[in-house]
Amino acid sequence: MFNYSNDTHQAVEIKTSRRLTMPHPQDFIEVQVHAVAIAATDALTFELRDPEGAMLPPFTAGAHIEIALPGNIARHYSLLNNPNERHRYLIAVRRQSQGRGGSRYMHDELRVGDRLAVSAPRNHFPLNEAASRSVLFAGGIGITPLYSMISRLEALGGDWVLHYAARSQRHAPLLDLLEPLKRAHPERIHLYFEAEPGKPAFDIRNIVSAAGAEDHFYCCGPTPMLDAYQQACKDIAPARVHMEYFGPRQAVPLASESDAGPKTFAIDLRRSGMSLSVPPDKSILDVVLEAGIDASFSCGEGFCGYCRTAVLDGEPEHRDTVLDETERAAGNVMMICCSRSCTDRLVLDL
Ligand code: FES
Repeated sequence: MFNYSNDTHQAVEIKTSRRLTMPHPQDFIEVQVHAVAIAATDALTFELRDPEGAMLPPFTAGAHIEIALPGNIARHYSLLNNPNERHRYLIAVRRQSQGRGGSRYMHDELRVGDRLAVSAPRNHFPLNEAASRSVLFAGGIGITPLYSMISRLEALGGDWVLHYAARSQRHAPLLDLLEPLKRAHPERIHLYFEAEPGKPAFDIRNIVSAAGAEDHFYCCGPTPMLDAYQQACKDIAPARVHMEYFGPRQAVPLASESDAGPKTFAIDLRRSGMSLSVPPDKSILDVVLEAGIDASFSCGEGFCGYCRTAVLDGEPEHRDTVLDETERAAGNVMMICCSRSCTDRLVLDL
């Protein structure tokens, strides 16, 4: 167990070492927990390194890794460190006592020295480094990918501003890491704490309306915040509006016989040469796995992007939170774990 001795970013010394052997895809790599620190009242940061000290696969700001955990579950965590760093991955994990167990395991069981399997970094929330200015909105633990973006923008000499909301200072991860930046650029970091009256109101709509015509916007936080952000940005070109969900936006129901939308539809798998039927109570992913096709997937709920599949013909009905509006409109890629079909048939690159 960890010792929550205070609310600072304080390293916790734990001497036990174990090799964790959870099932994981072959392309995962082994890393070792090098350090654990308290990032907020209910959040820890984990520093992961190659056990032999080798460099890790590179990443870009906004990227995440997937960690294989006991119970054959996988969890995705944004990398918060500077993408220039190749010797470590830094993640922050909020303990969710009502969650599905991944964060509880990370908080209660994982120790310094333990070895874990993690995926190479992937990025569904990339930073547009050419933007004239980046406006970043963070809610609670959603600060993690944005902190990495700030590090990158600082390295590039880019213009940025952060609006960071949390329940209180004690519940705001990475505040101590933001402190030097706040001293250097007090006008760039705006903090909003619900439990601390007298602070300025966090009004995303006003902030977006006052922004420059070429600014790019980024948001990572809880669903109500993302909903407010989407509403505030509804008249802005989708290419300038970027967001990342922590998990599924809402339960993604499979179609039932009473749904007015598409029910059973056909899929033609171009590379496998198979034609299959997707009934209302199964996903495309279910059907292709049952047919023995080796399709990639992880979350099964439309937010990790691992099941991304090219659509060669037909019109997908997107139900994921990975694709942006431009990708949805193009219709040439879909998440097969949750999305369905508007047409009677889809041709997929599987
Ligand atoms: S498996 Fe995660 S988006 Fe489909």
